[in-house]
Amino acid sequence: MTSDALTLHRPEIRVLDDAEAVADAAAALIIDVVARRPGAVLGLATGRTPLEVYARLRAAAAAGARLDRIRSFNLDEYRGLPPNHPASYRAYMRRELFDAIGLADDRWHIPEGWGAPEAVADAYEAAIHDAGGIDLQLLGIGENGHIGFNEPAAPFNSRTREVELAPSTRAANAADFPPGEEPPRTAITMGIATILDARRLLLLAVGARKAKALAAALSGPVLPAIPASAIRLHPHAMVLADPAAAALLGA
Ligand code: GLP
Repeated sequence: MTSDALTLHRPEIRVLDDAEAVADAAAALIIDVVARRPGAVLGLATGRTPLEVYARLRAAAAAGARLDRIRSFNLDEYRGLPPNHPASYRAYMRRELFDAIGLADDRWHIPEGWGAPEAVADAYEAAIHDAGGIDLQLLGIGENGHIGFNEPAAPFNSRTREVELAPSTRAANAADFPPGEEPPRTAITMGIATILDARRLLLLAVGARKAKALAAALSGPVLPAIPASAIRLHPHAMVLADPAAAALLGA
C-alpha cells in the first residue's frame, strides 16, 4: 500500500441476524481458506469479538478439521506482561485456539511484549515477510475505531511498533485483568500498513457499542483519526456485523 494508497474501495458488508451468525460466517470463511490452502497464513485478533469464532474453530478441529498446518500472526500484545499472564494475548490465544487445534509453537507468532521494542517489531515484520505474507487478517474494531492497537491518529503507513494505549482502550479492556491490576500503558501492534498488506481483511463488529465506530469507519472520511477507515484502502475487505453494530450505517 504505497503508490495507490489513496484509491478507495468498497468493502463487502454483510449484516447478519445476530452475533452467532457473524461468528458462524467468520469461522466458515476461515475454514474454507484453510481447506483450500492447508498452510494458509492467518492474521488473528483478540478481544471479546473473536471468542465465538475461536469456539467454532475448536469444534471444527475436534470434528476432524486440520487446522494445525496453518501459520498465524496476531495483531498485537501488551508490553510488560509476563508471557503467562492471564490477560496477555499469548495466554488468550493458547487458551482459546492454539492448544485445542494442536498448533505447534513454531507455527504461531505474537509480538513479544518484552525486550527492545524496535528489535521485536523488526523481527515481526521480517517473520511475516518470510512466511509469504498474510492470506486473511481477522480484525475487530475498538469503540474509538482502533484496529489492532492502532489508536486514532496512527499513520496509515505505520508498521509494527510500540504504541501508547488510549485511556478509553485501557478502560474497555480493564475487565480482562485481575481485580486491582490495570492494563499496561503501552503495547506492540502491527501497523496500519502491515494490516493492509494482508491479501484479505475480515472485520467483525458486534453489539451497539461498536455502532458509532463502524459507521465512522465505513461511511465517514478515510482518515487516521478513524483507524478502521483504512480498510477502505484495501481491495478485498469484508465486514460482518450484527444489526446492533450496523445500526448507524448509512445514517
Ligand atoms: C482490543 C484489541 C483489538 C480488538 C479491539 C476490540 O483492544 N487490541 O485487536 O479488536 O480492542 O475488542 P473487543 O472485541 O473486545 O470489543
